[in-house]
Amino acid sequence: MGYTNDGSDDFEKLRKAFKEVTAIFGSFDNLLEAFGLADMPQAQRYGIAFGCLVFLLTVIAVLTLLTLGGTFKRLEEQAQTGDATLLSSRDARAQRALLLERLLEGRERMVRNYPDPPTTEKLTSLTKMLSNVAPQRLDGLSELANESVTEEKKREIRRYFPPHYEENYVDAYRKCQERPGGAVLSGRPEARFEAYARAFAGCGPYTSVSYRRSYGRLYEATSCMNLATDDKYVKLFKYRPNDIIGRYIRLEALEVDRHLEGLYNLTSGDAGLENKSFDPEEIWGFLEDGPFEDAKAMRNSFIFMHLMNEAAFAIVNNITDKLMGCILLSKDDPQNLTIQLEPPLMQPTQEGSRELLESCFLLMDRLFAYGYRRLQISIDALDSDKRKLAMRLGFTLEGVLYKHMVVKESSRDSNIYGLLNSDWKRGARVAIFKELYGDAAFRVDSMNEKKEEEFDEQTRVLKEQKRTEQENALLIRNKKV
Ligand SMILES: *[C@@H]1O[C@H](CO)[C@@H](O)[C@H](O)[C@H]1NC(C)=O
Ligand SMILES: *[C@@H]1O[C@H](CO)[C@@H](O)[C@H](O)[C@H]1NC(C)=O
Ligand SMILES: *[C@@H]1O[C@H](CO)[C@@H](O)[C@H](O)[C@H]1NC(C)=O
Ligand SMILES: *[C@@H]1O[C@H](CO)[C@@H](O)[C@H](O)[C@H]1NC(C)=O
Ligand SMILES: *[C@@H]1O[C@H](CO)[C@@H](O)[C@H](O)[C@H]1NC(C)=O
Repeated sequence: MGYTNDGSDDFEKLRKAFKEVTAIFGSFDNLLEAFGLADMPQAQRYGIAFGCLVFLLTVIAVLTLLTLGGTFKRLEEQAQTGDATLLSSRDARAQRALLLERLLEGRERMVRNYPDPPTTEKLTSLTKMLSNVAPQRLDGLSELANESVTEEKKREIRRYFPPHYEENYVDAYRKCQERPGGAVLSGRPEARFEAYARAFAGCGPYTSVSYRRSYGRLYEATSCMNLATDDKYVKLFKYRPNDIIGRYIRLEALEVDRHLEGLYNLTSGDAGLENKSFDPEEIWGFLEDGPFEDAKAMRNSFIFMHLMNEAAFAIVNNITDKLMGCILLSKDDPQNLTIQLEPPLMQPTQEGSRELLESCFLLMDRLFAYGYRRLQISIDALDSDKRKLAMRLGFTLEGVLYKHMVVKESSRDSNIYGLLNSDWKRGARVAIFKELYGDAAFRVDSMNEKKEEEFDEQTRVLKEQKRTEQENALLIRNKKV
């Protein structure tokens, strides 16, 4: 259908509509004349008019929405609070003013009143506590779970075992035997039992049982994916039984010999050292120390020198076995069952990666399993990446401490985030678990958890019944006597 003037109904309707608009200008034809368009064909003239009208209405609608939606007001507010554009972390840092010379001098003078607290390069007791436990003699492990090995031989093996290790190992081994977490590896019927048992017992006797089960299942699934992974993890356990194993990464206690050079290469941002160059300020800008001139300087920094109530772990990729960064814990306060998690130090490209998330998850889960009631993160208020991480891990912002610290000669406000054991149990753990391992893995895990809980409960009740029976029998015998 063309736009000719052959008296179509639609055209008449349009004409009517325009009449109302043109009433504003006296006559539409006058208006066109003013623009020198009077001698155009009528259809074209109305076409132009229609176009203008639609444009006008659109502009009005957009302006109305902006005003009613409060966008203008928000823009104005943001301009006032200086938040109009989100500064990148690096820019935010660069713009921070230095403290007055007088304050810096005073600080230096007053700090001298206190000797430095003792720090150590060796593994702290906290690092050791959080690492897996393992017997000194690994070759005896399978013999302990073997019923045909003599009691005498077992006694000899037991001398190399930490407390309760055997009990945990054998219990877990037997339980897994009845319900392995997946298909049995061909030719290795024992592989799953052994994997589950060494992970379960490795958590030590002081973590909660549900944690040990969950860690055991996760380890078993990762380790017994196929024959190759089984080989890898059996070997890993032989050489490094204390590492905390996740699916994507593992945590090794941070040691100078093993990790110093690699960590320096990784975080220095030097294109010659790692494949990708980046501004080292992206890693170190918000921290008290760094970037470092050389590995030796890093060795003397807070990364490798620790107070006794701190812990440090290297994050190592599960496939490539390459170092990816490190994660620290500080302010351990067992008296009050609280501890502070420091955000992992990794390359900027790892920001928000599952490797980074898993390194936090593994530590957090273990800390709560030991009975900590409160985890804390203290983050520079300008550090948007780390603030995001805290929220993603389920932490809640508890407050802002203004002028909390002096970092690199400028003032730092700190956002304090907290996560309670009750929050962890009620949902934070599930959320991270699902994000890391997927919904299906979570369903399987919670199903197994329920089954194991039931099984343990049954065993407990049976044991209790047996004990009462024995007591009753004893009572009856005593009465007879
Ligand atoms: C248990 O020990 C016996 C005798 O030492 C041995 O023949 C058998 O292979 C062992 N079984 C397992 C499952 O290791
Ligand atoms: C390591 O993690 C990847 C996922 O990043 C997984 O696909 C792979 O199977 C894991 N490898 C081992 C040996 O556990
Ligand atoms: C670190 O970089 C140096 C210099 O390129 C290199 O010689 C060394 O092997 C690297 N070390 C590690 C552990 O990557
Ligand atoms: C980094 O460089 C090394 C040697 O030049 C190379 O083997 C490796 O594949 C590179 N890694 C990446 C992630 O590009
Ligand atoms: C922890 O508890 C002890 C004793 O109750 C107290 O002296 C200490 O100040 C507490 N620590 C913190 C950080 O509140």
